[in-house]
Amino acid sequence: MNLLTGKVALITGAARGIGKAIALKFAAEGADVAFSDLNYDENMAATEKEIAALGVKSKGYASNAASFSDSEKLVNQVVKDFGKVDILVNNAGITRDNLLLRMTEQDWDAVLTVNLKSAFNLTKAVQRYMMKQRSGSIINMSSVVGVNGNAGQANYSASKAGLIGFTKSVAKELGSRGIRCNAIAPGFIETEMTKKLSEEVREAWIKTIPLRRAGKPEDVADVATFLASELSSYVSGQVINVCGAMST
Ligand code: NAI
Repeated sequence: MNLLTGKVALITGAARGIGKAIALKFAAEGADVAFSDLNYDENMAATEKEIAALGVKSKGYASNAASFSDSEKLVNQVVKDFGKVDILVNNAGITRDNLLLRMTEQDWDAVLTVNLKSAFNLTKAVQRYMMKQRSGSIINMSSVVGVNGNAGQANYSASKAGLIGFTKSVAKELGSRGIRCNAIAPGFIETEMTKKLSEEVREAWIKTIPLRRAGKPEDVADVATFLASELSSYVSGQVINVCGAMST
């Protein structure tokens, strides 16, 4: 299939995990892929190579999505290198889990800045290009815990719920310019992020999933591909759960 041929995508936090799976799926559908992560390390170099092996243009950028100025520089550089940005995936995210009793101000600020402010930073930076071309698809990586809340993740849940409000507002504000904005709310997906959890916690999570398995990064990437492509041309302002029916 060539669902994204001729499109340029920018994906944040994509040297590994869900972001990387999205990058590879987009590339397999013909998109040229720019992606960012904190450092130009072996993960980024490997991801860059794997994307390029699919026959599209690929470039990894060291850029902190939590920084407003970094994000602006990143988007301007991507437009210089690739000519435009059609698809933005705000994927970069972190956890600093703790009970509220023990959660520090730093834990709160770090999570809100990386997970929520980053989407503001990047969306601000791409909007003028997307407005000029009168098209664009923005995808924000929320979470089922942004929809439902979760004990021990007050900061993370708040950031992911914030992304949903942001998504709906951007969809309403930029819809008349041909720009769509949607959120994906993954459930429990097997990545480095969830590897931090103990086997006990992992098993408890899986018991609550009607499809009785953890999700794969590719499960999320499939939905991102739908939202990036013209298959979803009349879908905007929505939150799509990818969670094996954990949250309905
Ligand atoms: P991961 O930890 O494997 O990958 C996240 C990537 O983002 C890493 O490469 C990391 O270096 C990068 N990153 C972190 N801070 C950054 C920053 N300030 N600027 C640029 N890059 C940065 O995590 P995973 O699981 O792939 O998560 C991707 C997204 O999906 C996150 O937003 C996460 O909150 C969300 N998500 C993940 C779920 C899961 O079960 N794994 C469930 C629901 C949502």
